[in-house]
Amino acid sequence: MIEASEVTRIAGKLKYGMVGGGPDAFIGEIHRAAIRMDNLASLVAGSFSRDRQKAQRFGGELGLDSNRVYSSYDEMAQKEASRPDGIDFVVVVTPNVSHYSICKVFLQHGIHVVCDKPMTLEYDQAKELADLADAKGLLFCVTYTYTGYPAVKQIRQMVLRGEIGDIRFVNAEYAQEWLATRSEEEGNRQAAWRTDPAYSGKSNCVGDIGSHVENMVSTMTGLEISRLSARLDTFVAGRRLDDNATIMVEYEGGAKGIYWTSQIAIGSDNGLRVRIIGSEGTIDWCQEDPDHFQLAKLGQSMQTWSRGRDAFYAQGQSFSRLPAGHPEGVYEAFANIYKAFISALARKLAGEKVSESDYDFPSARQGAQGVRFVDICVESSKNLSWCHIPKST
Ligand SMILES: NC(=O)c1ccc[n+]([C@@H]2O[C@H](COP(=O)([O-])OP(=O)(O)OC[C@H]3O[C@@H](n4cnc5c(N)ncnc54)[C@H](O)[C@@H]3O)[C@@H](O)[C@H]2O)c1
Repeated sequence: MIEASEVTRIAGKLKYGMVGGGPDAFIGEIHRAAIRMDNLASLVAGSFSRDRQKAQRFGGELGLDSNRVYSSYDEMAQKEASRPDGIDFVVVVTPNVSHYSICKVFLQHGIHVVCDKPMTLEYDQAKELADLADAKGLLFCVTYTYTGYPAVKQIRQMVLRGEIGDIRFVNAEYAQEWLATRSEEEGNRQAAWRTDPAYSGKSNCVGDIGSHVENMVSTMTGLEISRLSARLDTFVAGRRLDDNATIMVEYEGGAKGIYWTSQIAIGSDNGLRVRIIGSEGTIDWCQEDPDHFQLAKLGQSMQTWSRGRDAFYAQGQSFSRLPAGHPEGVYEAFANIYKAFISALARKLAGEKVSESDYDFPSARQGAQGVRFVDICVESSKNLSWCHIPKST
């Protein structure tokens, strides 16, 4: 095992490129800011937009060498792979439809990948990418942002240690208001592509936010869904994809759950909430107050746990950046995912064997499982039936 100081030294010299995340984009700048937070890698290349001039102008604003601002991701993968000082990893933050082809070309050129969720539109594509990364010995991270919170790591450890007993039921929801009207027709570009099957695939709401619910519950509990029954709704007239979904799930081992995801929930901002009900206790966590969660043991009142307090176990503590009571948020959660990914990458580059069981970031296999979840929700809703989920491969 290499020394932590050596990991930091290698990580500090890493170089990355970005595909997507142009001047008008939502998530690209959050990724860049999160990576800057720990100074673990420098942005040196990009293909920020399909519009050549826009991409060049933006690359200039970011201080990049104009020779390393590319008008296509193919060109970027090829040229960066052939430079002695080429990028170590690429961050893919384009609309969902292009994730597969972009990630594939970088993997084929031997470049490690970070891709935003959902990983691809089809399960077979995601599995192919996961297999390709393995075959090439490359790391692949899928940025399920919220799993980077220290409280989520703490909850996972408590659940896996059996501190709330056997899990009986999970009640998870992700409620937002932003698509309560037809904002895709009102100039909202993020709404436009998310509700367009050509860019978003077969689902909007389940693909966009249901994918976070699936991964969050799986991360917190380790439960695997055996079968589900989903009902996808489109409440806003004229919309082409779902904007609300109700999903009943059954897990291996007998626990059950219900997931509700909605983008028409007036009054809700970004309400990802998970309640895990065990035979000896309940845990309740909400993304909008990510530093805290509630724990109740049988017969006792709810107690609040706070990030930064000594009661947190070592793993959750190690990702905590500020003392208790100094709120951390989405930027820090993203930075934690990058910290874990970049540290694994530095270890790998130093010649250490890094396997998926050592990862503290969401893997390609988890990304593929998330795509399969979306597929099966759509199939179940179409056929009004319970559908089995094959075990992860
Ligand atoms: N992890 C999270 O919490 C989270 C949050 C928001 C979005 N996302 C995901 O991030 C991705 C991007 O979402 P967004 O809301 O930022 O979208 P966006 O529409 O705001 O930005 C997409 C950017 O990609 C660029 N682009 C599109 N095609 C390109 C191509 N072929 N080459 C280069 N650039 C290209 C666009 O010009 C734009 O700058 C989506 O997959 C979305 O699901 C994840």
